[in-house]
Amino acid sequence: MKFLVGNWKMNTTPEEGMALLEELSQGLTKEVVGDVRVVVAPPSLHLIPVADALLENSQIEIAAQNCHYEDFGAYTGEISAQMLLHSEVDAVILGHSERRQYFSETDDFVALKVKNAIKNHLIPIVCVGEKLEQRNTGTFLEDTWSQLSIALSDLSKDELEDVIIAYEPIWAIGTGEVASPEQVQQMHSFLRRKLKENMGRDDMPILYGGSCKPSNADEIFSQNDVDGGLIGGASLNAEDFMLLVEKLKNS
Ligand code: PGA
Repeated sequence: MKFLVGNWKMNTTPEEGMALLEELSQGLTKEVVGDVRVVVAPPSLHLIPVADALLENSQIEIAAQNCHYEDFGAYTGEISAQMLLHSEVDAVILGHSERRQYFSETDDFVALKVKNAIKNHLIPIVCVGEKLEQRNTGTFLEDTWSQLSIALSDLSKDELEDVIIAYEPIWAIGTGEVASPEQVQQMHSFLRRKLKENMGRDDMPILYGGSCKPSNADEIFSQNDVDGGLIGGASLNAEDFMLLVEKLKNS
């Protein structure tokens, strides 16, 4: 299964978000998306209007960018997986490097969120990836596997079926510097091997994220172990995002 996920991050006013969605839902017909599952992750404030605006036969699914690991409680400012489920949300991005970097999220914290998302029937899009120092010192494969193995550690083999993994090297996020197709393939095949050896299955989709755009997507999407993309900057431009859907479909 191929996935293209647009992470809008903290961008778009409600009006801008709805205009972007409108353009996407008009362009992304059943024929255009083919076998690609298209997901958009707007800011949480926009989730309900976005869900309401999507037509019943829409090819677009909705993800949140984060959620808490408890269903309800005294956690000011947070939203829960249970609330998302009741708001027609399909998936949730968890463990994004910006959450780890700016909001001090740890691997253990991410693991709790992943477990709770699965419990609430949301698809967790679990993000992992190394810092530049780890790439330079050569520990990037093991360090990224360590993040992933902790994030998934509480899931049964059956629960793993519902997980999407996103490999996002931190040095490539929002920097314009994209990982080479060889670097991407090396990491994806390594993670797949480790998943099989340690968790008994390796059939979860693994997406690449980090400055992916129409000009570099063909090479990345054509790698054997790449099942799609998690797109930041280029997902804010409807034309670019739709072009990425086409490129993924044809990969
Ligand atoms: P980018 O972001 O495409 O702007 O690099 C990717 C992401 O953070 O998911």
